[in-house]
Amino acid sequence: MLIKTRDDGYTHPQPSEITSQAVYQDRRQLMRLMAGGAAGAVLASWATRDARAQMPGQGAKLVGRKSTVSGASTMEKLTEFKDASSYNNFYEFGMDKSDPARNAHTLKTAPWTVAIEGLVKKPGNYALEDLLKLSAMEERIYRMRCVEGWSMVIPWVGYSVAELIKKVEPQPGAKYVEFVTLADSKTMPYVGSRVLNWPYVEGLRMDEAMHPLTLLTFGMYGEVLPKQNGAPLRLVVPWKYGFKSGKSLVKIRFTDKQPATAWSVAAPQEYGFYSNVNPLVDHPRWSQAAERRIGEDGLFAKKRKTLMFNGYEPQVGQLYAGMDLKKYY
Ligand code: MTE
Repeated sequence: MLIKTRDDGYTHPQPSEITSQAVYQDRRQLMRLMAGGAAGAVLASWATRDARAQMPGQGAKLVGRKSTVSGASTMEKLTEFKDASSYNNFYEFGMDKSDPARNAHTLKTAPWTVAIEGLVKKPGNYALEDLLKLSAMEERIYRMRCVEGWSMVIPWVGYSVAELIKKVEPQPGAKYVEFVTLADSKTMPYVGSRVLNWPYVEGLRMDEAMHPLTLLTFGMYGEVLPKQNGAPLRLVVPWKYGFKSGKSLVKIRFTDKQPATAWSVAAPQEYGFYSNVNPLVDHPRWSQAAERRIGEDGLFAKKRKTLMFNGYEPQVGQLYAGMDLKKYY
């Protein structure tokens, strides 16, 4: 997501260099061509030898009832599960979009606890099993927009993080919620790389965290989350750029100060605290006015116009009434 120069002169590649859309497209086209041709068998055997973190259909079932939350179920065509689980950003497992699916098998997701800390009446370590039972699972079909200019439509399974927040009872002074994700150098090969200060930290204002669309997510496509998508639990905030949705959460901290988030520390001029999807505020190095929907990336596919708050303006617009969104980007 950013260029960062290391002391030894190494320059972190730009996202376009990591896997440009063109390279990705070429790869997909090549795969399609090869699958249809004589080389198909060779390719198939290579693909099965590749140690995937988790392939579609291999996860335990986790279904949710249809959500009644306003905006929680777009009717747009779903991104294919295989695309959503093989084109990922999870920098703890590598920089290339295909790295997390290849490398995240080392992530150990059980036992798992989430520490609830800070300005809260019921702090403690909450076991994953208890979090799974805390509220009824819902299916939410969300548009997801990455800051790099691509988007997907994903059926997530989880419940509003507001349900958990209500249970642990924040103190009146709590104004923000910090979400801290796992940083285990033994199982995550790129923790220690200088791209970011680890652990990966994200944060929301209390009213954003309490918004019913903000999802504590345990599954997708009716299965538990694949490791590359942030197992065993992650956040999903559909009106913000994807990087706000921290994966593999281990700590939720209530605070009176705006959290220092991983990307806003790494490149403050490029990534702000709010990071609401906004076609009118460009990234300093590229426009945010349009997006490429993964799966529609054929030769003649047109880009889609990016919508204000990723199309969730009716639900969340009032959270930002009167704010200068160029300043609070
Ligand atoms: N969470 C952690 N811990 N590490 C990461 O590198 N990447 C973010 C976000 N959460 C990231 C993370 C970014 S940039 C995006 S776009 C989304 O996860 C991607 O989620 P997906 O791979 O499930 O689509």
